[in-house]
Amino acid sequence: MRDSSLIKMAGLFWVTALLFVWAGAMNGAAASGFTVGPKKCQECHLDEAKVWEGTKHFSSLKKVHKDKRAKKIVRAIGDKRMKKSETCAMCHYTDAAKKAGGKRKIVAGPACESCHGPSSDWIAVHNDYGKGVKRAAEPAAHKLERLKKSEAAGMVRPSKLYDVAANCMSCHGLAAPGLDGKIAEKMLDNGHPLNLNFEMVEYSQGSVRHRFYPPTVTVNKELDAAGLSRLYVVGHAAALVSASAAVKNSGHEKYKAAQKKRIAKATAALEAVKGQVAAAGALLSDPSAANGRALADAIVGMDLSGAVGPMLPKKYK
Ligand code: HEC
Ligand code: HEC
Ligand code: HEC
Ligand code: HEC
Repeated sequence: MRDSSLIKMAGLFWVTALLFVWAGAMNGAAASGFTVGPKKCQECHLDEAKVWEGTKHFSSLKKVHKDKRAKKIVRAIGDKRMKKSETCAMCHYTDAAKKAGGKRKIVAGPACESCHGPSSDWIAVHNDYGKGVKRAAEPAAHKLERLKKSEAAGMVRPSKLYDVAANCMSCHGLAAPGLDGKIAEKMLDNGHPLNLNFEMVEYSQGSVRHRFYPPTVTVNKELDAAGLSRLYVVGHAAALVSASAAVKNSGHEKYKAAQKKRIAKATAALEAVKGQVAAAGALLSDPSAANGRALADAIVGMDLSGAVGPMLPKKYK
């Protein structure tokens, strides 16, 4: 091989590597890939798909545009129809295309890729154990590489608890990264709901819960008390970061007041654990995504139910 082509290849390598770093730094919902739609996931994940079909995320597709508030909200932001509005689609719909740049069509409400990241760049990688290799025989190094590649390509893995929760908050906190602050204000002024009671445990352990983990992959397992306590804390970490950024980006009193209520609730939860976990204190004084992730990493394997147990919800949505 000639030197110049080696140099070119090295250049290409770095461009690719940088793109991967960039994609990894974005939140799942904003990664560079596009969504392929839940039908594709369903081919292998039948149990998870069945759970999803029992949620409001699923049934919403046929209903929400008929809600009498919808028309007023769409008009207020200068669009005509909910299903044609890119703003509404950001949180309400999943579209799918066969290839990059191809014609996109709404195929579902919030779905697999709303929470796990647009999959065009990782769908073929995340379950590839190597040519002819069965899952149980996959070498550990190959598995590590596979998961790393999936994440770099925008997959939000369930174990990345902070990023999973941040995704919920971006829609449920009316604070999606791509949502213009002025538009969010108009939506709020014209009757769009902002549910201040959205809390991770209550909203993820009922209809939404799918935990078909090995060894019994046919059972949708409940989360244990320690897991619930961590989820509660990480959920509030993501809410604090989301609401703090929203307050900074807005000069609108009603929107800011709502976001400040979210901050107050999250602060109370994090105050309860900061004696036990220093990372919670660090997040409270600087509510950044990096500090949110650091908190999630710091509590892996811990049981915080002594501190937050009494705050946990008794019933799930
Ligand atoms: C061809 C089959 C196949 C398709 C299609 C598929 N998956 Fe998977 N997926 C798997 C298998 C097998 C695993 C378990 C992988 C392992 O052992 O790590 C898995 C694992 C996962 C996990 C858990 C990963 C982890 O880190 O624990 C998530 C989340 C997931 N898939 C989401 C999706 C989504 C979303 C789609 C659609 C965009 C999808 N999958 C499409 C086969 C598939
Ligand atoms: C930042 C994310 C986001 C955007 C953008 C968004 N919505 Fe929503 N919308 C939500 C969430 C989350 C809910 C559920 C709120 C709740 O918990 O009550 C919702 C609820 C609604 C509801 C009430 C449905 C019900 O069942 O109670 C209507 C109507 C609605 N949205 C219309 C719109 C319209 C029209 C647009 C576009 C102009 C839009 N939304 C844009 C996140 C969003
Ligand atoms: C509302 C957000 C949301 C949606 C929608 C969603 N997931 Fe998940 N998914 C999660 C969360 C949160 C977890 C982590 C669960 C845990 O570990 O407690 C998870 C875990 C998983 C896992 C690992 C656990 C298991 O069941 O094996 C797979 C695989 C998965 N999701 C696939 C899917 C597929 C396929 C779809 C669409 C049919 C989907 N998810 C839709 C949020 C979501
Ligand atoms: C892409 C945006 C989006 C993401 C991400 C998202 N949701 Fe939602 N979710 C919605 C919208 C929109 C609705 C309202 C649907 C409607 O009423 O028509 C909703 C409704 C719900 C409901 C039903 C609420 C009720 O009052 O019955 C639950 C529960 C829920 N979401 C939980 C979650 C959890 C937990 C996560 C993260 C693991 C999550 N959602 C992530 C957009 C999203």
